[in-house]
Amino acid sequence: MLLHLLFGLSVAVGLSAAERGLLFDFPLSQTPTRLNIRVDLELVDFAQNRAASYRPSYDNFLSLFSWSEVEDCMNKRDHFSVVIPGAAGYTGDIPIHFVHHRSMNVSAIPLLLLHGWSSTHLEWDKIIDPLAQFFHLITPDLPGYGFSPAATESGMDARTMGAAYDVLMKELGYGTYGVVGTDVGYFVSSWMMSDVPDSIIGHFLDFMLVPPTQDDIDRCSGNQTTPEENAYLGSFIAFESDHFVYSAVQAQKALVLSLSMGDSPVGFAGWLWDLRYAGSALHPTFTLWVQAPYGAVRSYLETLIPKSGGVDFPSYKVPTGLVEWGNQHGPFPELASFPLAPKRCLPDS
Ligand SMILES: *[C@@H]1O[C@H](CO)[C@@H](O)[C@H](O)[C@H]1NC(C)=O
Ligand SMILES: *[C@@H]1O[C@H](CO)[C@@H](O)[C@H](O)[C@H]1NC(C)=O
Repeated sequence: MLLHLLFGLSVAVGLSAAERGLLFDFPLSQTPTRLNIRVDLELVDFAQNRAASYRPSYDNFLSLFSWSEVEDCMNKRDHFSVVIPGAAGYTGDIPIHFVHHRSMNVSAIPLLLLHGWSSTHLEWDKIIDPLAQFFHLITPDLPGYGFSPAATESGMDARTMGAAYDVLMKELGYGTYGVVGTDVGYFVSSWMMSDVPDSIIGHFLDFMLVPPTQDDIDRCSGNQTTPEENAYLGSFIAFESDHFVYSAVQAQKALVLSLSMGDSPVGFAGWLWDLRYAGSALHPTFTLWVQAPYGAVRSYLETLIPKSGGVDFPSYKVPTGLVEWGNQHGPFPELASFPLAPKRCLPDS
């Protein structure tokens, strides 16, 4: 009986944490299990040594903060691991790390928050306390990001992630819930709106990629666009021509890029810095480097060149709110109106 149980367990969770080569605590169980964020000290030392010997010399970025303090700070939240046994045609295990912050409010609404590149669940940390009066908050790491182990098979696209998160929410007892998506998380949440609409109460985005259409470009060259549209088109084109290459490289050369950054924390920090400097906020780089970057970088390959349709989400009926902030205060004036798509450029749903 015991053997049977053990055998059943090992089949149920596939590869063990050690076989996956994980350098952080991750209990493998199909029911949500508490965990502490605890990265192997050898990995922290390795990163510190690599940074110290970087050529040309560079201030040791890991000495600028104490990783154990970052861990202590993260561990003030309730972290969990769970293994979802496949979803949406993906047959491998889907191990997920998430923070689950339950509200004291018995009427609180469950809310799933999905981060993007180059981020982790930490993206939402500051808003957990302010929102906890109204919501139960679930903030996972996307597969391969932070402490969600990377996929071991190809096909971990946005739809698969969304299907797995829906299973997770049901396991937590949340039959219906709200979803917030940004960046890669916006791909995931948008697919959830058409794949599991009955689970979703409402959808909120602070990101929507609306590339100009041929019609927009024709109207622009015919001087028929408004000043608002011109600003948006100008910023979109500036972003595409000067700042967007990271996305093409990550989608088309995910492995080559990751091979060169997997043992260079400074190189990886530089890659992230370039994008963050152009447009978004800082998060601890090391959190995204704990797993070699391929697992996270590969999400560009899987979500932008996927079998399942990429950015061509089917239209959906779930009520969706969108707020967009530009880059008025960023270092590049030409990006001030990115990604402020005027209303007439937005899709109907
Ligand atoms: C509890 O949450 C519900 C749903 O978000 C909200 O309508 C209600 O005002 C909250 N109650 C309190 C006391 O904040
Ligand atoms: C658009 O406006 C510019 C500047 O005012 C002008 O030079 C150009 O001829 C106009 N083009 C069309 C197609 O009207």
